[in-house]
Amino acid sequence: MPSMLLLCLVLLLFALMFGRWWHLLSEWVPPRLRTAAGLCFALLPLAMLGNFLLPQDQVVLRTVLAAVAALWMFGCSLFLPVWILWELSRIVKRVAAWRERRKGRLPVNVWRNPDLRYGRAALALLVFAGLAAFAYVECDWSHEVREYEFHTGKNPERPLRIAFFSDLHFDALYHPGRTERLVEEIEAFGPDVVLFGGDLADVDSALVSARGLGDAFARLRPPLGIWATTGNHEAYLPRRELMPAWAEKRGWTWLRDSTACLEGKLCVTGRLDPNVAAVEGLARAGIEGLRPAGADTLLPWIVLDHQPQLGQREAVEAGADLVLSGHTHDGQTFPWNLVVRLIYENPHGALVHGDGKHRGMAVTSSGFGRWGFPFRLGTSPEIVFVTLR
Ligand SMILES: [Fe+2]
Repeated sequence: MPSMLLLCLVLLLFALMFGRWWHLLSEWVPPRLRTAAGLCFALLPLAMLGNFLLPQDQVVLRTVLAAVAALWMFGCSLFLPVWILWELSRIVKRVAAWRERRKGRLPVNVWRNPDLRYGRAALALLVFAGLAAFAYVECDWSHEVREYEFHTGKNPERPLRIAFFSDLHFDALYHPGRTERLVEEIEAFGPDVVLFGGDLADVDSALVSARGLGDAFARLRPPLGIWATTGNHEAYLPRRELMPAWAEKRGWTWLRDSTACLEGKLCVTGRLDPNVAAVEGLARAGIEGLRPAGADTLLPWIVLDHQPQLGQREAVEAGADLVLSGHTHDGQTFPWNLVVRLIYENPHGALVHGDGKHRGMAVTSSGFGRWGFPFRLGTSPEIVFVTLR
């Protein structure tokens, strides 16, 4: 029932947006282009549906449909704030017109000048194409390396070097060179351990293997291994077991509400994402039951928890030295990067929690990949390197 309500709300929002889109077109765009632009808005979501329904081995067709759907979603994500501003501006314009009429003058609107219609349509298209090109390069052809250092007070024999990445979201538009660069950065850092924070793929392993999206991982062999936790997207794929198995073949170990203590150097806990727990009919374990025991309590303790709002503070209070999350993508595109700041205590970056007795650092990564479309505006993909002392 809640999902039906959500679907109805989305459809209502879409209908309202379409109404305004049509209104905007009738004022800004010549009639000959208006029908085509209106049809684009209404029909492009079908590309998303087609991409969802097509078999996984239809690589070329799925890639084309995914590209069309991605541009549509990016356009909508940009149009939504424009729409809100548009509604506000209508209120302002009405008040201004009312004041003009009170003074006995006729209101003038330069934006409705029909002589400027082709120019306005071309300018809008140019701005969108420019933003899409910039956002694509920012998303899929660049990344940040973010380094943190934290003193645990546990004095490991030598500083522990940790490489962490999250939210790859392999999809039909991902390209293998992206993973190549991720692996090159990790190799250059030379970590003791590599950790993954969840949300590996939005397509199943048939497409990932056909495109060679993660082949570069085969050469990653850190001394203390590669450890992964589940994200909410590990719950969404129809053949959910395939991608975790794909990763295991490349040397990853999944921590599903479990803790591994590695060669007397550190302990790593992976918490099960609640969405995965729900589809598997499981209950997410409490952090207390995952705490290292005996002599292992003296080791630095790292907790991987995909969604930062669920347990970063709780894990530090339970004794974790470092909590690593992803999930937020830092909003991925403007203006959502501002919205996530209102929702999450730690939408991106590092926070230190705790008191004089015990302190721990919680890091939320903006992720190395992206969800839905290969665009980022106002945020960057990133790899996180932490040195624990
Ligand atoms: Fe994600």
